[in-house]
Amino acid sequence: MPLLRLSRVKPWGTLRLREIHSAVKKKLESKPETKLQKQICQVVLDHFEKQYSKELGEIWSSVREVLTSPQYWQYAALLNKFSISSEVEDNLCSKGYHLLFPETSSFKCYICSTPGRFPAQRHRAGKLKEYYLLNAASLLAVLALEVENGEKVLDMCAAPGGKSIATLQCAWPGLLHCNEYDHLRSLWLKQTLESFIPESVMHAVAFSQLDGQQIGNLQPEYFDKVLVDAPCSNDRSWLFSSDIQQAALRLAQRKLLSAVQIQLLRSAVKALRPGGYLVYSTCTLSKAENSDVITHILNSCSNVLPVDLGPLASSVSQEFTFAPGVQSHELLVLPQNGKAWGPMYISKLKKI
Ligand SMILES: C[S@@+](CC[C@H](N)C(=O)[O-])C[C@H]1O[C@@H](n2cnc3c(N)ncnc32)[C@H](O)[C@@H]1O
Repeated sequence: MPLLRLSRVKPWGTLRLREIHSAVKKKLESKPETKLQKQICQVVLDHFEKQYSKELGEIWSSVREVLTSPQYWQYAALLNKFSISSEVEDNLCSKGYHLLFPETSSFKCYICSTPGRFPAQRHRAGKLKEYYLLNAASLLAVLALEVENGEKVLDMCAAPGGKSIATLQCAWPGLLHCNEYDHLRSLWLKQTLESFIPESVMHAVAFSQLDGQQIGNLQPEYFDKVLVDAPCSNDRSWLFSSDIQQAALRLAQRKLLSAVQIQLLRSAVKALRPGGYLVYSTCTLSKAENSDVITHILNSCSNVLPVDLGPLASSVSQEFTFAPGVQSHELLVLPQNGKAWGPMYISKLKKI
């Protein structure tokens, strides 16, 4: 049995929900107006310019154009199979949306080739939400994990919960353990899951608020699948930092991130049963946080092997632009005009 103190889900009282709403609202209100106006942070752009023109070569200029132009950004709508609405589907189709993965039945996810965002759905008391807006590249990490019914799955860095929700759309895991270290974000995670997933399915969901680096020691060889959607540079959001000093500090401390990512992955390897799989993902283009981290793990852990992601890439190549020249166990989604998905790095490993 797991050593962790997990909280199985109980419906939350109104008071608790009100507390969370007000904490999240306060946080949003404390953001300066410039954040809402999406001003480019020059110090971050200069830093990225230097690094990514070297790492990506010519293609960086078209990636930069999308990343720095919110008017090009696209959002996918992942339908909630637990709250089916033909009205929402009709509405999406009438606005020019089409299914992203028509040949698979895993997800019903709609995208539109023109930029824009379908309106987010408000909280409706007693009703589950019908769709979740997200960057379509996030779904590739969940597809790569290939969760099967009955499996024990760990989402090690889970808030705000997009990939946990997506995982529950494509399989019926025996256990989905959603971990998030940050307190406020863990409240947000729980609230998000509760607004999409019915109570009957929430019985298979557990929450914890641990440093993911410890989970391997606490639950060795316990999980069939582990997703490490790691804390990372988050290029899209960093480019619009409103606080220049904070942005400069983040850039200065950026190199420390890979050490944390490596420790999270070591913990994930420990938490996996032999024969289990892990998927590592980030939303940065940075080689230091992507390929270099995975190469380090492959070189230092004798019990992991790389898994080929070529078949997954081929099956979605119409809708995503992948960076050339990466190895077969990794994918790097590059945002391009009309396919503004990513940045998203994904790699898959097997524990032997
Ligand atoms: C990229 S976000 C995860 C996004 C999430 N998977 C989703 O799809 O909605 C990374 C998350 O990791 C959390 N985090 C940071 N350090 C952590 C740690 N040591 N252990 C667990 N979670 C951590 C952050 O607070 C953040 O919420």
